[in-house]
Amino acid sequence: MSSFPTLDNVDLKNKRVLVRVDLNVPMEDGRITDVTRIDRILANIREISEKGGKVILLSHLGRPKNGPDPSTSLKSVAVELERQLGRIVAFSSDCVGDVAKSAVGALHAGDILLLENTRFHKGEVQNDPAFVQALAELGDVYVNDAFSTAHRAHASTEGLAHILPAYAGRTMQFELEMLTSMLAHPVRPLAAFVGGAKVSTKLELLGNLMRKVEYLFIGGGMANTFLAASGKAIGKSICEMELADVARKIMADAEAAKCELVLPCDAIVAQKLAPDVTVRAVDIDSVGENDMILDIGPRTISKVVGLLASARTLVWNGPFGAFEVAPFDIGTVTVAKVAALLTKVSALETIAGGGDTIAALNVAGAFSSFTYVSTAGGAFLEWLEGKSLPGVEALQRAAPAKMTGTEG
Ligand code: 3PG
Repeated sequence: MSSFPTLDNVDLKNKRVLVRVDLNVPMEDGRITDVTRIDRILANIREISEKGGKVILLSHLGRPKNGPDPSTSLKSVAVELERQLGRIVAFSSDCVGDVAKSAVGALHAGDILLLENTRFHKGEVQNDPAFVQALAELGDVYVNDAFSTAHRAHASTEGLAHILPAYAGRTMQFELEMLTSMLAHPVRPLAAFVGGAKVSTKLELLGNLMRKVEYLFIGGGMANTFLAASGKAIGKSICEMELADVARKIMADAEAAKCELVLPCDAIVAQKLAPDVTVRAVDIDSVGENDMILDIGPRTISKVVGLLASARTLVWNGPFGAFEVAPFDIGTVTVAKVAALLTKVSALETIAGGGDTIAALNVAGAFSSFTYVSTAGGAFLEWLEGKSLPGVEALQRAAPAKMTGTEG
């Protein structure tokens, strides 16, 4: 049992509150294409502001390597934040130094300021003590409200928690509580659905999940590696044949752990991945040598829906096919719709995370029906892998007065 400090009973009046948020939002041609991450942090910002704190927001955007770069400036995000909050959000063109100090100096109780991209300074990613100190000079209190960056031991996600009184923001708190209750203490049976292209990116995830869940369905490109490792012909489908031994070991380990590992029993195949190509539904033993497996087939969909009916909790990461190209989204979308329906009638608790999974849930209109959808990508995966996240660990070590229980 571990714990972390929350904003309950913290006096923030007139305090300069450095709040790490994740404004790493998807952008196209300078426009934000998905505001979910912004929506999620609004309540926490309002609470700190209403308590009289001076809200100083810290975030990264993208992965700039060589200092300031207009394409990864947070300036346009400040405008969107202002729109969403219906409040003025001041912007500082640097996150440290005189520019930042004077922007912070101009704040009154309740005001909100966004500092420019922390990754414009190399010290951020390096967690350089001098850079941590430069950030710390701007605040009296540190609030980490960015679970989705908690797998990074950076200055603004980890370093600051060692120097300033540190607390979890409400978004972070809620995410940790949801993940803990649904994964550490789930209503059983617990099913995990894992998809995506590559087994290699999810080996640790599979290894950890099989010890925790009753049912594990593997779909997407990564299922091909398991099918090939079981001696099935998979034609021209993507596959990591060099991981065949690893896949066989995962299957054997799952059996030993009494986890029912389910693979596709049929597939939607085509000769190439493109819209409007001729597609066929084939039994998994009948994939032709020129076929590419691009989605799960109808019998697999029924099987997966059957798993949903047997389970009480579902954890989902990764789509089951090339869902970005219709009609290869049908398997993922159908299963997402059924999971959403079962959640609505309280027959199932559903938790999902990862960029592709969120995109698929949105296509299915299932996003808002899921019990919890994490906007975290890498951090969600590392949590599912059973790793401890540096940003969360630093908060747990901070440990002042009021605590909330969690387990990773
Ligand atoms: C994310 O989008 O997953 C987080 O913002 C972390 O971004 P990063 O992978 O660039 O550290």
